[in-house]
Amino acid sequence: MRAILATTAAAIVLTATSFAPAQANEAAIKARQSLMQLYAFNLGQLGAMAKGTTDYNAEAAQAAADNLLAAASMNQMAMWPEGTDNEAMAGKTAALPAIWTTYPAIAEKGKALVDAATTMAGVAGTDLASLQGAMGAVGGSCGGCHKTFRASDN
Ligand code: HEC
Repeated sequence: MRAILATTAAAIVLTATSFAPAQANEAAIKARQSLMQLYAFNLGQLGAMAKGTTDYNAEAAQAAADNLLAAASMNQMAMWPEGTDNEAMAGKTAALPAIWTTYPAIAEKGKALVDAATTMAGVAGTDLASLQGAMGAVGGSCGGCHKTFRASDN
């Protein structure tokens, strides 16, 4: 009886330790995808004004630009653990293995976004023309990273 209990306890411990990393990886993927959704939401607000779908509003434009910059400035180290690429975790993520095999190349792409978002935050509340002038660099920095580091089918 004691032996069975010990075995069961060992099995539970083993399950717990082998399960935890997978859950942690899924949480990291969820966190970075959520951050991307925040990028997209705030960029969408700016884009709608730039295109004229929504009337330009200085306060709303400034808020969206500030949010985008704040989100892009987050330290994302814990959101991109090794082993969370789309081969190791197929169906869960669109992150390409190149993120890790060419590291720190992705950091340059992240910096391009922070730079473009900084410029945007400096002018978004000024007027529509200034916002429009800053849009291309922001959108380009999103696409520039996705092209190299994100699977296109997601
Ligand atoms: C430094 C690289 C990088 C930059 C810059 C970047 N992205 Fe991403 N993005 C990724 C990667 C990699 C994924 C895939 C993440 C995953 O599935 O785990 C992704 C995924 C996404 C997704 C899908 C999220 C989901 O729910 O699955 C959206 C939306 C997105 N990005 C929007 C944006 C927008 C908008 C910008 C610019 C404001 C941006 N991204 C900038 C690398 C980047």
